Amino acid sequence: MITDSIEIIKKDLLESKVIGLPTETVYGLAANAFDEEAIQEIYRIKGRPSTNPLIVHIGNFTQLKTVAKEIPEKLFLLAEQFWPGPLTLLLPKRGEISASVTAGFPNVGVRMPNHPKALELLNQIPFPLVAPSANISNRISPTTAQHVEKYFADIHTLEGGECISGLESTILGIEGGEIAVYRWGAIGREEIEKLVGKVLNRTQATHSTPAPGMSKKHYAPKCPLVVSQEPGLLLSLSMRQRVGVIWFKEVKWEFPQVICNEVLSNSGDLKEAGKNLYQTLHRMEELSLDLIIAERMPEEGLGLSINDRLDRASSKI
Ligand code: TXA
Ligand code: MG
Repeated sequence: MITDSIEIIKKDLLESKVIGLPTETVYGLAANAFDEEAIQEIYRIKGRPSTNPLIVHIGNFTQLKTVAKEIPEKLFLLAEQFWPGPLTLLLPKRGEISASVTAGFPNVGVRMPNHPKALELLNQIPFPLVAPSANISNRISPTTAQHVEKYFADIHTLEGGECISGLESTILGIEGGEIAVYRWGAIGREEIEKLVGKVLNRTQATHSTPAPGMSKKHYAPKCPLVVSQEPGLLLSLSMRQRVGVIWFKEVKWEFPQVICNEVLSNSGDLKEAGKNLYQTLHRMEELSLDLIIAERMPEEGLGLSINDRLDRASSKI
């Protein structure tokens, strides 16, 4: 159920229930970060493996002290610049944060979301909120309250409109004094590096890196998806009957089997493209397509984040 009432949401949280939380990136599936029963419910209804940790959302800098033991200076600089905003920092966790939040890791992911409703809620409750994206594991992330309802009809979702970023937060941490990136998201590489210089790239998961959720398969629509620099070439070879194509800024080729062309940004703005990506995938998922072909974005700015999501959504066909 979608609701405008912060009171209903607060009541649910106090009763150990899980709620849908609007943020500027994507909607989250949120619960009291100190409530073990509610945390377990998130893993259960999302179908999320217990090895994949949750991000803790705070409403102000004072709350940070209840979650993290300390914040290294370089990361503090980034927090000052980007919070509230789509930046998650991996910080040494306090004892009060349970192992189920961090999946046993010593660091906790923390962010202060930049959404008026989320901030209003977080500043009215005496605890931070854990919140993974509000989708069933490995499916497309939600950018409207209606998307959340599609996955989780039984919970209350706080209406917060369309997410303005539409891509998840960028995740950073520190390794041997150097800033490392674990997931590119709504803040692009250039913006981060302007502030702190070159960052270590840890976006390709291995067992030894601390971003277990960077699994290869993710963000996937129900039908197969492939990413290509040259969708036209794939189209001319494809025997599929019902194809949808996602273009960056213009439709480059028309083919008879294409029943849906979607352009992410007519003006070629990668920020706009990022905002429209999941919306477009949700719409296409409804069309019973045999195949989605997505044009690869330029490898700059948010293009890196969008390509990362497309690669993870893609399947072998
Ligand atoms: O924008 C976002 O970050 C959204 C909104 C709701 O805030 N949340 C989100 O959560 O994208 P989720 O769970 O879908 O993705 C979080 C990623 C996962 O890949 C997880 O493995 C990683 O962050 N992560 C969270 N806590 C971590 C930790 N303590 N150490 C390493 N990776 C962590
Ligand atoms: Mg997610």
